[in-house]
Amino acid sequence: MKIGLLGHGVVGSGVRKIIDDAGTPYTKDLQITKILVKDEWEMTDERMTMNADDILDDPDIDIVAECMGGIEPARTFLLKALKNGKHIVTSNKKMLAVSAAELFEEAGKQGKTIRYEASCGGGIPWMSSLCRTRRIDTVTSFRGIFNGTTNYILSRMADEKKSFAQMLKEAQELGYAERDPSDDIDGYDVRYKVMLSCMRAFGTIISAEDIPVCGIRHISEEDLAWADANGYVCKLIGSAEDRDDCISACVMPVFVKKTDDFANIRLNFNAIESRSGTLGSCIYVGQGAGSLPTAHAVVQDLIDIQTGQDGACDTLMRTHTVNSDHKGVYYIRTAKMTVFNEVIGRRVSETAFLTDTVSLNEISALIRTADDDSLFIAEVDE
Ligand code: HSE
Repeated sequence: MKIGLLGHGVVGSGVRKIIDDAGTPYTKDLQITKILVKDEWEMTDERMTMNADDILDDPDIDIVAECMGGIEPARTFLLKALKNGKHIVTSNKKMLAVSAAELFEEAGKQGKTIRYEASCGGGIPWMSSLCRTRRIDTVTSFRGIFNGTTNYILSRMADEKKSFAQMLKEAQELGYAERDPSDDIDGYDVRYKVMLSCMRAFGTIISAEDIPVCGIRHISEEDLAWADANGYVCKLIGSAEDRDDCISACVMPVFVKKTDDFANIRLNFNAIESRSGTLGSCIYVGQGAGSLPTAHAVVQDLIDIQTGQDGACDTLMRTHTVNSDHKGVYYIRTAKMTVFNEVIGRRVSETAFLTDTVSLNEISALIRTADDDSLFIAEVDE
């Protein structure tokens, strides 16, 4: 199979390395013939080009693998690749989360495959496992640590008592963070991954906008100290449930108990749990970010297409409703405590309190009123 690779950054260069090293009979059968790069200085190999059409219009290329990131021009390139009769593989969750409907429609028209294992959970075989699970079961819910950057920051802050800014810098240097790390620390990266996981787990497309999201940008050492003293560890958790065709999903920092399966998932590792009829609870753990783990997932998709193991299970025709609220007990630290008087269950410090079980919609309205740009909120596992 001849492959055109779009993008030669952290993930793309990992894909090139795994395939060029040709370490197994499967990878030997793959051949990258052209690579799209952004800048002149990246033209280090005769396969490199700065013109995407050299790849998209090449009749000899069977699969286009996109590892560019960002919505445009990736979306336009992949639509063109499908129209030109190529299968596509992508690691780009943001682009796929906002363009899934049109890309799947085009793929359906052309009889081509879209695979996106690397978009979610890095090297973990999460998407393909959901596909296998659904051959037998109905998936009812999933929850997980979907972001390597924030898990790295939270683990290192807790262990080393170092600042958020220092740990973010480390995560960027290790190649875990998005080009704009706001997507990681504000929870949007997890939101895209939860949306794509809903697509695979529940067989339907929900809008990412319908998923409430809170990130860890304002977490402080004080918040982590309270969690630690009270038997908790902070994790950024994405979750979703499909109950009676009503999908509710959420992205929140959560204080999980130290005995929780997720409490000891550290550094760039991700862990995702699915629940379904006969399989019950099943947890997948592995490196959720980084060049070679993520490239591994891209190459697995390429091999599946090459060997005809399409594994397509994206039946996206189901109708559903969406519940965008989320009820829970929340820890809130704010300089504007009085705004929250009606929902304070118990004060835990001068500036922090716990709610009773309340609606996130209600809390969000109060957060908007408080207009406190250093406020931190986390759900507390009971
Ligand atoms: N920035 C992402 C993360 C990369 O940290 O998880 C992998 O999707």
